[in-house]
Amino acid sequence: MNQIPKEVFGDKDLFEKELENIFYGDCWHVVGHVAEVPNVGDFKTFDLGRVPLLISRGKDGQVRVFYNSCTHRGNQVEVSASGNRKEFECPYHRWLFSLEGALTACPGSKEFAPDFKQENFGLLEVKSAQFLGLILVTMGKNTPPLAEWMGEEVTSTLSALLGGDGRLKLLGYQKVSYNVDWKGYNDNDGYHAPMLHAGFRMLNWQGGKGFQRMAANGNLVFEAELKPAQDNGFLKDPSLIAFKGSDPARGSMIVQLYPTTVMVKHLDMINLRFAIARSEEETEVHYAYFAHEDDDEELLQHRIRQSSNLLGPCGMISMEDAAIFRRIFIGNKTPGVAEFQKGVTSFTELPADLKQNDETGNLGRWEHYRKLMGFKREGGK
Ligand code: FES
Ligand SMILES: [Fe+2]
Repeated sequence: MNQIPKEVFGDKDLFEKELENIFYGDCWHVVGHVAEVPNVGDFKTFDLGRVPLLISRGKDGQVRVFYNSCTHRGNQVEVSASGNRKEFECPYHRWLFSLEGALTACPGSKEFAPDFKQENFGLLEVKSAQFLGLILVTMGKNTPPLAEWMGEEVTSTLSALLGGDGRLKLLGYQKVSYNVDWKGYNDNDGYHAPMLHAGFRMLNWQGGKGFQRMAANGNLVFEAELKPAQDNGFLKDPSLIAFKGSDPARGSMIVQLYPTTVMVKHLDMINLRFAIARSEEETEVHYAYFAHEDDDEELLQHRIRQSSNLLGPCGMISMEDAAIFRRIFIGNKTPGVAEFQKGVTSFTELPADLKQNDETGNLGRWEHYRKLMGFKREGGK
């Protein structure tokens, strides 16, 4: 089980089946963090596959996730990426919805059908759950409870990654459209980082000891110690890569929640990547950067500088990703299989022990994909 048929990448029909089986199926999907909507009336829109969602903080302080669709004729209620409203107004016939989703006014209702009851026409909520402010939704009928779905291995790393208590403060976003399907984007591995990304070599940056673990349902955690980079004169201001946090032993963390969410805590950056599977040829990723609510001004500025220079589509240590994702998309139009080698010890079992830079960490994700899609293994591989 170390080979993936190339035909699974970028296939239109397969993408439709993935929407049904995975994105609208029994999985949890990260759609945001409550720190993106800190005040009453704040909202954010997001898509789960093709399904538009509206995330709103109500007057009671609660964050709810609705289908972004008017209960009258289905018009999309909000189209801005984010903002603040006193109420939501559908522009088509001016139905008004409260921040908590209730229908509060609808012009001409005296002439509505005899069985019309205003209280039955609130915005429809999507099933959601939170983990330290991280907002997840599911449209599946048999999705396990969130804690069970994430798996125990995830909890400790994800808590630390989210600042220990999830009290985050949004710094900003970078948005990028990768021209590859969500699997090509998601098949990123630890093996490639020091090989592909010239930034690591230029900055003379070596990782410390760490581990990688598979969790339930295709989820994955990674942690590594931070070794301070030795200044080699490449940067005019080496404080860009300084670590001001308190625990270098857990200085680098990655949590990948199946199918598309990647969350990273690296140096002093807290980066949650919210991905939208747009098509078999496009994955839109919102890189959201956070600080902790308790940070002083100096740490805040440091986090902003680090986030905007190191990660994301034009970050020094990740800018090559977009080009590689596209080349994966093109290269995999050829016959044959994509091979996994680093860390493979068996052709029939998933590896129990992963080294931190093994590419076999991805195989748990692929195995989960195979099950969700109902595919059989071929030739035991
Ligand atoms: S569709 Fe929204 S008010 Fe008619
Ligand atoms: Fe990368």
